[in-house]
Amino acid sequence: MEMPLTTGYASRFQAPEAVAAYEMQEYGPDSYASRMWELQQPRLAALLQQQQTTVGRPLTLLDFACGTGRVLAAVGPLVARAEGLDISPEMVAVAKSKCPRAHLRVADILQTETLPANTYDVITAFRFLLNVEPSVRRAVLARLRESIRQPDGVLLVNVHGNSHSLRHPALVWRRWRERAQPTGAMLNEMSAGETRALLRDTGFEVRQEFGFGLLPPTLYRTPLRGLTRALDKTLAERGLLREWSIDLLFVCRPA
Ligand SMILES: C[S@@+](CC[C@H](N)C(=O)[O-])C[C@H]1O[C@@H](n2cnc3c(N)ncnc32)[C@H](O)[C@@H]1O
Repeated sequence: MEMPLTTGYASRFQAPEAVAAYEMQEYGPDSYASRMWELQQPRLAALLQQQQTTVGRPLTLLDFACGTGRVLAAVGPLVARAEGLDISPEMVAVAKSKCPRAHLRVADILQTETLPANTYDVITAFRFLLNVEPSVRRAVLARLRESIRQPDGVLLVNVHGNSHSLRHPALVWRRWRERAQPTGAMLNEMSAGETRALLRDTGFEVRQEFGFGLLPPTLYRTPLRGLTRALDKTLAERGLLREWSIDLLFVCRPA
């Protein structure tokens, strides 16, 4: 039996409390992450439709690092076969309840023989790259590159902390506070340029990019929240200022 890694980022979502915090706080009904997810869902559905038209066959999809099934529950019904893979049994238990038709597996992607080669028409990888250790980022992308279908599979990869966004000053401040009083908060950032370079180095070609959430998340906790939400929605729908948005989505083909 494969033994999942239990150190570093791979161990972060193993405890029931971490799973509950992800579901109830990070993706609580009125959280900033939930607002961004509302913006992303129609885009994701349109991209799957686009991929369906491109390949002209029933789509096989892998949601890598599927976690509690947030993305899989939205995209699974749009494809012929949906699979999810995650290292955390606790996260996958929640995903099973949300995605009864999906084929879910608990495994470490870096263990040998975890994924079939040249198979998936679509691979989604949300909220994984940013916080994982840099060496693991590369190794995982290399694995996904082997598993994506050649030549027309598509990787939809998300980075939820753009360093070139209006949230950056708040993160600099929080990092400074974190040094004085550590809380374990994840405060990483990557720019669109860094992500593009990483994807290129691991064998992907970025074909399209989208951005979600231009305005600072703190505004969502003020009386200006309605206006902020409407403005972020308009900007995301029109594809404006995406390079400076907080949450980035890259559409890639195997190079
Ligand atoms: C922040 S969660 C994202 C979950 C989901 N993609 C979403 O956007 O809601 C990151 C997930 O990556 C998983 N993970 C971390 N390292 C992994 C590995 N080596 N193989 C498979 N999954 C891994 C964690 O267990 C966790 O569920």
